Amino acid sequence: MKVLVWMLVLVLVVVGVVSSEGVDAPPNVLVLLADDLGIGDLGCYGNTTINTPNIDRLASEGVRLTHHLVASAMCTPSRAALFTSRYPTRYGLEENATIQIPVVLHTTSHVGLPADEVTLATALRAADYTTALVGKWHLGMNCSFLGRSCPGPLNHGFQSFYGIPTTLYQEFAAPGAFWRFSFTHPKFQALCVSWVAVVWSLVMGYRKDILSATCVFNLLLLIHVAVLAPIWFTLAHSSFDPFVHEALGISPWLHARVNSHIFRDEALVERPIRLEGLTHQLVDESRAFLTAHAHDHKPFFLVHSFAHVHVPMFSSQHMKGHSRHGRYGDNVEELDEGVGAILDTLRELGLEKNTLVYFTSDHGGHLEAVEPGTMERIGGHNGRFKGGKRQGGSEGGIRVPGLYRWPGILPTGVTVDVPTSLMDLMPTVLSLTGLPNITQLVPHSADKELDGVDISEVLLQKATMEGDGGKTTAGRRIFMHHCGQDIHALRLHSGEHVYKLYLYKARWHEGSTQCGWGAYKSCTCFDDVIDVRKEPQLYDLTRDPYEDNPPISPDTPEYQTVTKELLDYLHKWRTTTHLPPSQLSTMENVKWNMWYQP
Ligand SMILES: *[C@@H]1O[C@H](CO)[C@@H](O)[C@H](O)[C@H]1NC(C)=O
Ligand SMILES: *[C@@H]1O[C@H](CO)[C@@H](O)[C@H](O)[C@H]1NC(C)=O
Ligand SMILES: *[C@@H]1O[C@H](CO)[C@@H](O)[C@H](O)[C@H]1NC(C)=O
Ligand SMILES: *[C@@H]1O[C@H](CO)[C@@H](O)[C@H](O)[C@H]1NC(C)=O
Repeated sequence: MKVLVWMLVLVLVVVGVVSSEGVDAPPNVLVLLADDLGIGDLGCYGNTTINTPNIDRLASEGVRLTHHLVASAMCTPSRAALFTSRYPTRYGLEENATIQIPVVLHTTSHVGLPADEVTLATALRAADYTTALVGKWHLGMNCSFLGRSCPGPLNHGFQSFYGIPTTLYQEFAAPGAFWRFSFTHPKFQALCVSWVAVVWSLVMGYRKDILSATCVFNLLLLIHVAVLAPIWFTLAHSSFDPFVHEALGISPWLHARVNSHIFRDEALVERPIRLEGLTHQLVDESRAFLTAHAHDHKPFFLVHSFAHVHVPMFSSQHMKGHSRHGRYGDNVEELDEGVGAILDTLRELGLEKNTLVYFTSDHGGHLEAVEPGTMERIGGHNGRFKGGKRQGGSEGGIRVPGLYRWPGILPTGVTVDVPTSLMDLMPTVLSLTGLPNITQLVPHSADKELDGVDISEVLLQKATMEGDGGKTTAGRRIFMHHCGQDIHALRLHSGEHVYKLYLYKARWHEGSTQCGWGAYKSCTCFDDVIDVRKEPQLYDLTRDPYEDNPPISPDTPEYQTVTKELLDYLHKWRTTTHLPPSQLSTMENVKWNMWYQP
């Protein structure tokens, strides 16, 4: 009898082990997102003088994408597209030609990812993942009146959030003096004159005995301070007039106070941000998350969205002067150190094998960025690709690093040259992990047409890289490169070739592929462009990857076929896609809202 019981126990144990091995739990998903990092800033993309061993290791242990494209060369729209797999114009998160504000500016701005958009976090949460975002969000905080709560990412599938609601700004490093105004501006002259006039009339009234009692004098002074001071403060520090700040509508002093925030979930926990040590603070938060969920019965989805290498430059003590490329290089190497620390934790916790890791940057390097004062370059390097951040269709702004690693499942040390997009993340993750597709997971997403495709076959090396005659999704594909709602360039992967057709080209400053120098300078895709729609320019990136040669002659059959296909596609897109108005098209939406300030 005893033997029988033991045998039964043994059978049950064996069955248990076999069945739990049979139904593999879906893997964890870890997204590492760099900010403003150029494709030429990394060792694994050919930079021989920078030191990025951890990101390079990710590349050698996984798949390296060499033709990886963002949907927009600015943070907010690019990140929205990464999470939703849809072009940002589909939900109005694109720049408007009149106002030219390309991103969510303030914690309190009334713009952001619409509540009904479905993100990868929403999808994975529906698949019973534990979801978290650490670091930069920049897709709208949706603060309630008086800033009592600002759910931000928590409205979009993330169960927890620790990090920066919008972005880092240069002012967070050096906020600017309270009373530093330019007295050549009529507004400040008026402020000054009115202040002198009020004080002068008070003093005169007192002297001439009109205000005999000191108490009346004091009362008037009090009223003066109580009533006029806030008006003056508001006038001086906040305004629709872009003079106050190039783009923000508030003074640098106020800016560093109302936007330099760290949130934990819905609540503000740090103001202003202490920049030194920020990288470690964020990395420690992600490591704590990994440790806390390492032995859960369900998988996790963690997005670690780095503050580096956006301006301002800041480094921990031990990283100062670490690189051969000044403060910017130090920032890149600190980013790499952070990646290393997170990946080490993953390995120490025994999670490496069961975690799909994806590394990318939200867009190319900011070529114009310089340190105010010293004019030291503090922007990224886009390799040999021309142009950078904020330029509609220029390659340097939209071609970014892209690495996928899943030990034992994805091949190691391979390179994929097929054009892919950051928007491919959601369908690819759902496919690789064997989860149901997005409409099965989130039924209300049925009306949301995806622009990203499942590239798992390409990553698994099951699809031939070239000339597979369009048998796989990655075989033939068209990409659009936006400037606001306009399309400035299109790209066709025909199977054998990758063509790029320009309708507008950037108008760079002489002898460069950028527009001047400055922390907030860049070529805007509305003004600094040349309209070439009369005779669109076609490049074959397979033969001429850096667009060094003149475009393909319009007299060739190649030009005519490819241009026709792309223009027909564009015509169809324009006539069949309904685009809502841009959320970023009114000052009311983008401005700082005093009454919503947390
Ligand atoms: C490496 O990156 C640094 C930092 O962006 C840049 O200054 C340098 O030119 C790059 N070097 C090469 C060889 O690409
Ligand atoms: C913002 O919050 C309100 C409720 O306070 C909600 O109805 C709305 O959908 C939210 N919007 C976004 C974009 O999350
Ligand atoms: C998801 O799968 C269902 C059923 O197989 C299919 O009808 C639907 O088109 C798929 N949706 C997407 C977005 O692929
Ligand atoms: C851009 O903004 C202006 C002014 O607010 C508006 O008239 C125009 O329709 C907007 N354009 C788009 C494409 O939303």
